[in-house]
Amino acid sequence: MDFIDIQRTSKVFGSGLLTTSPFFFATKNGRFATSQPITENNTNKSEKLCWLAIAKKAALSGGNVAYHYFNKSLEIQKKKVSSVYDNFTLADVETENKIRDIISVEFPEHQIIGEEGGSKGSSDYVWHIDPIDGTNNYIGRNSDWGVSVGLAYRKEPIIGAIYFPLSKSLYFAEKGKGAFKNGKRIKCSGTKSLEKSIICISSYFKGENNKEKIITHIKQIGGKCLGVRMYGCAIKNFAMLAEGQVSAAIKHKLWSWDACAGTVLVREAGGEVFSIDGKDWTTDKESVIAACTNELKKEILKLRI
Ligand code: IPD
Ligand code: CA
Ligand code: CA
Repeated sequence: MDFIDIQRTSKVFGSGLLTTSPFFFATKNGRFATSQPITENNTNKSEKLCWLAIAKKAALSGGNVAYHYFNKSLEIQKKKVSSVYDNFTLADVETENKIRDIISVEFPEHQIIGEEGGSKGSSDYVWHIDPIDGTNNYIGRNSDWGVSVGLAYRKEPIIGAIYFPLSKSLYFAEKGKGAFKNGKRIKCSGTKSLEKSIICISSYFKGENNKEKIITHIKQIGGKCLGVRMYGCAIKNFAMLAEGQVSAAIKHKLWSWDACAGTVLVREAGGEVFSIDGKDWTTDKESVIAACTNELKKEILKLRI
C-alpha cells in the first residue's frame, strides 16, 4: 500500500481543514486505506483514523454543491402533497448524492441513511446524512442552513462533521477527541441554571395540534429562562451550544440525520445530549435535548415539556 504524507494529503482534498489530525493516511490516488474489514473488537486502525477525515471531506464537498445552488431559482418539491414543511429541491438531492458517493467509496460495508435517499446497506456502522439542514431557510435565502454528516456505531454517535458553507465554518468531533471549529477547540458554556440560559426550541411541530404545542412549549420554557430562540436549523443549535453561545436546545422530534453529528459535537464540547426520558440520546430516539451542563439537564427534565 502506498501512503502519502500529510502535506500532500491536504492538496488532494484541497483544504487544510482536513489535516488537523496528526495521523492521516491516504493512498496516492487520494483514497483512504481500508485493507481489513471492521469487526466489533478489531477495528482497522488506519480506517478508524479516516472516519473523521472522510466525514469532513463529505461535509465540505456536499457543502460546495449546496453553495453552488444557493440563491438560484429552484423548483420546490414536496415529499408529501399535504405537507406544509417537507419541501426539498434539486440542491438537497445533489448534495446528498455527493456525500453518499464519498462515503460509499471509502466504506462500502457501512450503512448510509440520508434524508433524501433513504437507507442503503446494513451494518453496525451507520452514516446519518442531512444534506441541507434548514431546507426552508435555504429555499427562503436565509443564511441558517448547513450540511450534517454523522457516523454512529450501534446507534451511538461517534463522529460528526457539520459545515456551514456561507460562513465557511466547519465543526467536527470524534468521540473521546474533543470538539473543534475550523481546527480550533471549542467548549460549551458552564451555565447551570435555567434563569441564566438562552434555549433553542423546536421551530415547528409535525402532526396534529402543532400550533397549540408550540404555544404551550414557549409558555413552559420561555418564562423560566433568559430567552428562547428558533432557527429552523437543528445543527445550528448544536453548533452554537458546542461553542458556548446558547445553553440548551430542546427538540421534540428530530430525525437521526438532524442530530447524529451534532450530538458528538456537543458531547465532545462538554455538554450532554439526552432524550425526554433523561437517558443518553441514540439514533433511534425522537426527542433530543442538549444541555451544556448536568445541572441544567436536571433543571430541564423537571419542566413539563
Ligand atoms: C428541520 C430543521 C428544523 C427542525 C425540523 C427538521 P430540514 O430539518 O432542522 O430546525 O425543527 O425538525 O426537520 O427539514 O430543514 O432538513
Ligand atoms: Ca434536518
Ligand atoms: Ca434536510
